[in-house]
Amino acid sequence: MNTGSRLITPYDFDATATEVIDGVDLTGRRVVVTGGSGLGAETVRALAAAGAEVTVATRRPELAEPLVRELADVPAAGLVRAAALDLADLSSVDAFARAWRGPLDILVANAGIMALPERTVTDAGWEMQLATNFLGHFALAGALHGALHEAGSARIVVVSSGAHRWASFDFDDPHFERRPYDPWAAYGQSKTADVLFAVGARRWAVDGITANALSPGFILTNIQRHLDDDTLRAFGVMDEDGNLTPLPHYKTPAQGAATSVLLAASPLLDGVTGRYFEDNQEAEVARADAEGGGVAAHALDLAAADRLWEYAEDTVRAWSKAQ
Ligand SMILES: NC(=O)c1ccc[n+]([C@@H]2O[C@H](COP(=O)([O-])OP(=O)(O)OC[C@H]3O[C@@H](n4cnc5c(N)ncnc54)[C@H](OP(=O)(O)O)[C@@H]3O)[C@@H](O)[C@H]2O)c1
Repeated sequence: MNTGSRLITPYDFDATATEVIDGVDLTGRRVVVTGGSGLGAETVRALAAAGAEVTVATRRPELAEPLVRELADVPAAGLVRAAALDLADLSSVDAFARAWRGPLDILVANAGIMALPERTVTDAGWEMQLATNFLGHFALAGALHGALHEAGSARIVVVSSGAHRWASFDFDDPHFERRPYDPWAAYGQSKTADVLFAVGARRWAVDGITANALSPGFILTNIQRHLDDDTLRAFGVMDEDGNLTPLPHYKTPAQGAATSVLLAASPLLDGVTGRYFEDNQEAEVARADAEGGGVAAHALDLAAADRLWEYAEDTVRAWSKAQ
């Protein structure tokens, strides 16, 4: 395990997913990417083009079929298939993991939802963003632990967000049962949980499994679908006619997927675990209210990571028992 100083790579803000793994051969490697649109699709494209066999885990596998067909036509690309997975429903997570056969080299926990305007809960009563962005992925990684271990040297990549800086994890009320619901606090908390998940996963280093988290930057995708026009205008990405236009600091999807792909497949990440990256570099610790990038100390806190791991294990176990 690499516990050294901040990791520096040759790649910057502009690098694309393809560029960061140029020359890397993933033939024979088996990958799961959750979420088959937006950044997930770009991640699948880059990893499959490098030869990996990729399963796109998505709520609606039929929508991933064009991507599957596109990559079937790319010479030297690995086999790509789509399989059903609803992260907000642990019986679906369970079914996906039970159907998995053989080793798993790379799990990209990419799927997510952002800023649901009203408090929404899953059938299990969990706040929807926490359930989808974190608990579902935690349960999935746990259920696939044997397959990751079997790979000998496996990586988990957790797609977080710079929004993690806006909220620490509230162990007293993670599902907004007693405090007023706030869409961004709920999103931020779920993304802090994602970083803490990668930090807590250091316990799996002995099994040959590393985990790192990242922010992809700002990219116009379907993730903005819960934002109303006023919010999009306030962000500056919608003009008076309702057209969406990226701001200068926004990335293309191919650039937005680069840090995920770097963490998933670059040899630069061999043995590195429990860290947070942005713009293809390991981030520096920043104040929670700081403008710009960086990782909040509350997301790298070892005690919080261990406490969250215990909380998530208990939550998943209680759900299993109730079935
Ligand atoms: N775009 C940005 O600016 C930005 C910034 C920071 C972080 N991120 C993070 O990047 C990741 C990818 O987002 P994106 O920008 O590519 O957005 P996107 O195009 O909306 O992709 C999100 C994916 O998550 C899937 N998903 C949502 N709920 C799910 C569930 N219950 N089970 C399984 N899959 C589910 C969606 O599937 P459906 O098609 O079925 O809804 C979709 O494929 C997310 O984790 C997001 O939080 C994005």
